[in-house]
Amino acid sequence: MKGLILSGGRGTRLRPITHTSAKQLVPVANKPILFYGIEAIRDAGITDIGIVVGETHKEIRAAVGDGSRWGVEVSYIEQPDPLGLAHAVLVSEEYLGTDEFVMYLGDNLIMAGLKELVASFRERRPNSQILLARVPNPNQFGVAELEGDRIVRLEEKPKTPRSDLALVGVYMFDRHVFEAARSIKPSARGELEITDAIQWLIDHGRRVDPTIVTGWWKDTGKLEDMLEANRMVLDRLAERREDGVEVDARSEIQFKVVLEQGSRIINSRVQGPAIIGRNTTIVNSYVGPFTSIHYGCRVENSEIEHSIVLEESSVLDIGHRIADSLVGKGVTISRAERKPRVLRFMLGDHSVVGVL
Ligand code: DAU
Repeated sequence: MKGLILSGGRGTRLRPITHTSAKQLVPVANKPILFYGIEAIRDAGITDIGIVVGETHKEIRAAVGDGSRWGVEVSYIEQPDPLGLAHAVLVSEEYLGTDEFVMYLGDNLIMAGLKELVASFRERRPNSQILLARVPNPNQFGVAELEGDRIVRLEEKPKTPRSDLALVGVYMFDRHVFEAARSIKPSARGELEITDAIQWLIDHGRRVDPTIVTGWWKDTGKLEDMLEANRMVLDRLAERREDGVEVDARSEIQFKVVLEQGSRIINSRVQGPAIIGRNTTIVNSYVGPFTSIHYGCRVENSEIEHSIVLEESSVLDIGHRIADSLVGKGVTISRAERKPRVLRFMLGDHSVVGVL
């Protein structure tokens, strides 16, 4: 069995964070989302993993490499345009051959892992197995209608959903999916939908088994979802202090806090669950629960909680507590004391800022 991770597409909904970079590399608890997928597939006993890449392929290759770090063999499959999930399957046909495979959407996080699901697919041998989860907003997902254990109908992002069962971004297929993906037409949004390909399998007498996931999963396409994913992962991390960490006598570290290599906490309070990245310095500050601060950052005379700060950013002398925020790479947020006392910004396209 092989693994196929979809990491192409454009990250429009997380703009501007992912305007130029891959949304699958945005870190959750200081680790790119994509890495959780690789680990889940590896932990299910699969060592051949194809990663579908698009315009952000350089970054993804640089971050993942050949997979040896995880003990897997990664191959890259280029998808010239993000023409849909079923299109991504078609461009991977040569790589997948006649092997069964688990397809994982590179921006999804599934807490329970894939071990049992892959084992049950191998044992039951349907043509496809899909995962479903109850969600409050089904119109933003592929939606399944069931009769007992049987799938009657699947619809991609329906205006009036017939159930609250959303398709989770993990699917298992055998080779019949290629014929299905070749037979369907692009949807209203111009994509070859995997949802339609699965419906095609059902309509043509193939066996598609649903599994309802009760554990936590997230499609991290939007800011609130990223923050929630960050919260869930941090909550499960065990406290850790890596080499070269400095915590001075005036600082307080409370509850589960991960201090990565060379991080420094000076006259500050860090209240976990939180993670402070490699060579990041926190001075005269408060870092509150559910906060991930990535490597090479500086937080000084400030307060921040329930937020994600990407690498090499600075938060300096902010008089109010920053909360529920995602701060991009190399960003500086600081207090401008010069007169006139005006708000000064240099913001990327599509930024969202809330001022007091
Ligand atoms: O997250 C679950 C949902 O994922 C399902 O409920 C939907 O049925 C399914 O269509 C999908 O919906 P999204 O609209 O959220 O998919 P998105 O465009 O975000 O793409 C998912 C991943 O696949 C993402 O990592 C980008 C990648 N991708 C996407 C497209 C359209 C590709 O690699 N190639 C593509 O052509």
